[in-house]
Amino acid sequence: MSSASARLRAEPPLGIVLERMRRSDLAAVVELERRTFAHPWTARLFLRELRLPFSKIVVARSSEAGEGRVVGYICRWLRDGDVEIQNVAVHPDWRRRSIARSLVESVLAEAAEVGAERVLLEARRHNQPAIDLYRSLGFVETGIRRRYYADGEDALLMERRPIRGDA
Ligand SMILES: CC(C)(COP(=O)(O)OP(=O)(O)OC[C@H]1O[C@@H](n2cnc3c(N)ncnc32)[C@H](O)[C@@H]1OP(=O)(O)O)[C@@H](O)C(=O)NCCC(=O)NCCS
Repeated sequence: MSSASARLRAEPPLGIVLERMRRSDLAAVVELERRTFAHPWTARLFLRELRLPFSKIVVARSSEAGEGRVVGYICRWLRDGDVEIQNVAVHPDWRRRSIARSLVESVLAEAAEVGAERVLLEARRHNQPAIDLYRSLGFVETGIRRRYYADGEDALLMERRPIRGDA
């Protein structure tokens, strides 16, 4: 799908609120990360991200899950005119409800607002859910980094140019 045909939805799914991550979200985000990845980011790494001026983490909170519980997050960097998606994760019990889509869309909207050139990311070559997610939002593959990950898996490089109507 081309960028032009990947239409963004304006709102997150019902009952989901997107907000910038707070220090008080740390334990919840680390727990989500631990449940999601074989090599999860640590609390220390998240604290570093919270301090980096070019980094921003947005969490998805669910009113249904109780007390605005964190059910997903996205981390992006804004550097040298490009936005780089560093990570995105949704709690296993909350997948296929368009939460990741709304998180990525929020980054695309921000990229359009600030006039970023490109939104870039790397995905594991065999991470089909993630690749399908990004393709459905208009990202295209621009290259491969062979054996990029510690376990030898290749990274797929993907990018999308912000378009009018994203913001
Ligand atoms: C990838 C991930 C973030 C998707 O989160 P999600 O909230 O379930 O995704 P969404 O519900 O927003 O899905 C949006 C689209 O992505 C694609 N997609 C998502 N999960 C998919 C799956 N398991 N299989 C195939 N396509 C999938 C579909 O096109 C989907 O649209 P549809 O539901 O209308 O068919 C989630 O599976 C996850 O946290 N995985 C582990 C962490 C990870 O791999 N992160 C990406 C690092 S690059």
